[in-house]
Amino acid sequence: MVKLTIDGHPVAVEQGTTILDAAKKAGIDIPTLCYLKDLNEIGACRVCVVEIEGQDRLSAACATVAEEGMVVRTATPRVLDARRINVQLILSQHNVSCTTCMRNGNCKLQKVALDLNLQEEPFEKKPFSNKWDKTFPLVRDASRCIQCLRCVNVCEKVQTLGVWSLTGTGKRARVEVAGGKSIRDVNCALCGQCITHCPVGALTVRDDTQRVRQAVADPEKIVVVQVAPAVRAAWGDAVGVSAEAATEKRMVAAIRALGVDYVFDTDFSADLTIMEEGSELIEHIKEGRQGPMFTSCCPGWVRFLKLEYPHLVKKLSTAKSPQQMFGAVAKSYYAQLLGVEADKIFCVSIMPCTAKKYECDVAAVNDAARKDVDVVLTTRELGRLLRHVDVAALEEEEFDQPLGTATGAGVIFGATGGVMEAALRSAYYLLTGRNPEVDAFSEVRGLDGWKEASFQIRDKKLKVAVASGLGNARKLVEALERGEVSYDFVEIMACPGGCAGGGGQPICDGQELAGERGERLYELDRSYALRFSHENPAVEELYKSYLGAPLSHRAHELLHTEQEDWEL
Ligand code: SF4
Ligand code: SF4
Ligand code: SF4
Ligand code: FES
Repeated sequence: MVKLTIDGHPVAVEQGTTILDAAKKAGIDIPTLCYLKDLNEIGACRVCVVEIEGQDRLSAACATVAEEGMVVRTATPRVLDARRINVQLILSQHNVSCTTCMRNGNCKLQKVALDLNLQEEPFEKKPFSNKWDKTFPLVRDASRCIQCLRCVNVCEKVQTLGVWSLTGTGKRARVEVAGGKSIRDVNCALCGQCITHCPVGALTVRDDTQRVRQAVADPEKIVVVQVAPAVRAAWGDAVGVSAEAATEKRMVAAIRALGVDYVFDTDFSADLTIMEEGSELIEHIKEGRQGPMFTSCCPGWVRFLKLEYPHLVKKLSTAKSPQQMFGAVAKSYYAQLLGVEADKIFCVSIMPCTAKKYECDVAAVNDAARKDVDVVLTTRELGRLLRHVDVAALEEEEFDQPLGTATGAGVIFGATGGVMEAALRSAYYLLTGRNPEVDAFSEVRGLDGWKEASFQIRDKKLKVAVASGLGNARKLVEALERGEVSYDFVEIMACPGGCAGGGGQPICDGQELAGERGERLYELDRSYALRFSHENPAVEELYKSYLGAPLSHRAHELLHTEQEDWEL
């Protein structure tokens, strides 16, 4: 142990602990800006500077290790003045335009400046500028970038894609797309992790809220909304309502308050995905096909595989994502139920995801209409649409029917391991004719980046793996390629922790909330009357009256895509 004094308080910490963490242990808050635990500890912004007795220079608390006998002061006039100057220097390269910034009210720089009581910008302003294709789902505004390198490190270390890099030196050092390329010419998976880890409004997702407002105002349109599983676990953070008040049913009421015609549940089409993908898995096993079948419900992962390992695309399930299955069903079966043409329906998805914004534009996954899903909004955009609604005062409401009926298996799609568990619950039934214990496959839960399990189902031992985060996905894929591991079925989600930690979720700077949000989904699963996708009565009715059976010709037309037929 190392013993030191911080602001007069004695503190004992493990060897190697930073002054920042030692202060936290003593209940002393030191402001930070560029720092991200374990990912970005580079001491770039110098907002966290402190005085160490006997040392002339101030030290960055996030990048200085506590030493025996150190006497540290975190809030002397000298420290506070230095912090003010450091933030003013950052602001000299920053386009301060908070009123029109996506991060207004949720910006680390804004908070730091406020806490330091900054009232002027004394230095000459020279923000960078950049050209950007604003039709791309990920938007970068160089004039708001503070060169903190968080995006560089998240993309490189967690997702192993290295899309961003630092060029130039000194005052001219700036972050841009690696190699000075266009974002469309590099292998960005569109996971959105750089967006959720950017402390300011330099990285954002394309805002599509206006298109939804216009559709709602158009009397010719029937606006149908689907809400992804993970949205219900996080939407409260986007509207400033506690987790207790931000129930699933209050979320339904809030979305209905926007004036849309129907509020449905992507959990319904997650159950449908299980029927299709589970049946495909059973064919895969029975036919003794080589190698694993990969899940295909995460468009960030599908994009990653197509860009980085195109020769493995044939291993992907042909099942579309629940989002696209929902769109196809809404514009065929549901249009028929309503007695309207598909084009009259305007289908909006609310997703925890940024990659789904690109997915809905891929022609090969649109089969019922030119666009099966018209617009994708993130959970954060839902929050922006709801700003004028007193959400906490709303009475709870039910989803519309029939595309609002779902099971617990559909809900857990939003957590890493959830698709695997839901698929195994139904695969067991399809192979044996009876349901397993509902928690029989819970071994695949949890936040480990790469999990393995094997399960005996009748005479078949099924080896499965689950990975989340593209760095883990890469490790798994490369181990498969080297023949070090072998599996029958592999679930991969691009975002660490799965959709619960998705790039479209509300940003709570410095907190990794995928585990907590995923746990809320497992709680919901436990609370549902139905826990198996094959018991969803609305899915059963869809097959009976429209699709026939899983993997039928019509199901193939609407719910599957030939993965090898399309490239990016
Ligand atoms: S990034 Fe923060 S400080 Fe800069 S304009 Fe946006 S809200 Fe304001
Ligand atoms: S969206 Fe994901 S892959 Fe693309 S640049 Fe950001 S972190 Fe990297
Ligand atoms: S884009 Fe955001 S995360 Fe990346 S360097 Fe700039 S401010 Fe930091
Ligand atoms: S937070 Fe410590 S240097 Fe930026």
